[in-house]
Amino acid sequence: MNDSRPIGVFDSGLGGLTVARELFRLMPNERIIYLGDTARVPYGGRSEETIRQYGLQDARVLMGMDIKLLIAACNTVSSVALDYLTRHIKEAPVIGVVQPGAKAAVLRTAERKVGVVGTRATIASSSYAKAIQAIDPDIKVYGKACPLFVPLVEEGFFRHDITRLTAQHYLYELMDLGIDCLVLGCTHYPLLMGVIQETVGTRIQLLDSALWTAKEAQDILTRFEALAPAGVDGLQESKFLVTDLTPHFETLARMLLGQNLPKIEKINLEELTEEIQK
Ligand code: DGL
Repeated sequence: MNDSRPIGVFDSGLGGLTVARELFRLMPNERIIYLGDTARVPYGGRSEETIRQYGLQDARVLMGMDIKLLIAACNTVSSVALDYLTRHIKEAPVIGVVQPGAKAAVLRTAERKVGVVGTRATIASSSYAKAIQAIDPDIKVYGKACPLFVPLVEEGFFRHDITRLTAQHYLYELMDLGIDCLVLGCTHYPLLMGVIQETVGTRIQLLDSALWTAKEAQDILTRFEALAPAGVDGLQESKFLVTDLTPHFETLARMLLGQNLPKIEKINLEELTEEIQK
C-alpha cells in the first residue's frame, strides 16, 4: 500500500532544508510541505515556553495540510518541545531529530565518549545526553553550545577564515576530552561539515542528525506501508512556505536543494494560527 500525502517538515528557518535534502535523497518520490519560520528565527536562544509555543504553531499549520508524518527538523524544538508536540498532535506520527542522532552516536562510538554541538537551548536541555544515556548509561556525553555557527551559515560563510577561527574556539575544548564522535545537533551545522571536520581531524567522526532523521522517517513510512507511489518527482511537487521571504533566503535555499526548487511562498503564520484556533 502507498500513501501519496506529503510529509510535513518544519524548522525555525532555513536550516531544516538540510533534513528535506536528506529526505529527497533517500525517498525521491516523497512530497514535502516545508515550513520555515524565517520571520522569528533564531529559536535557539529563546525561553522554553516560547520555543514550545512557536513549535506548536508551526506544527498546527502543517497538520492543517493533511500530512502523513510530521518532522520537527529543528534541533531546538526537538530538544525542548517534542513531548509537548506529541501531546497536542494526535492526527499523525511526530518525530524530531534528537532521537535519530542519538541512536547513531550510540552505534558509532567505540570510545564511548560523544561530543554534541548545538544551540544554547539544545545544549542546556541535555536532550542528546538523555537520549544517548537512555540507551547506554555508560557513554559519556559532552555538550558545547556554538551560538555563532548559525549566523555564519546564514551569512554563507561556509569556508571562511572567521568560521575556522570560531570552530577552533568552540571545538578544541571538546577534542581534549577524548571524544570519537561529534553529533551536529543543529540544522545549520551540516553546512559547516568541511570546516568542522578539518578542525577536529579525521579521528573524530561527524554525525549529521539530518541524515539519520531521514532514515528514521523512511523506516516509519515503510512500517506503516505509507511510502509515496513511484513515478512522482517529490521535489517538484513539494511546497516551501516561509513566514518572511527575502532574496537571500531564496539564494541559500536554491544552493541547498538545487536551482529547480519550486517557488517559495510567504504565509502569515499568525493569521493561520488564529484561524486554526477558532
Ligand atoms: N533550527 C535551529 C536548530 O536546529 C537553529 C537555528 C535557530 O536557533 O533557530 O537548533
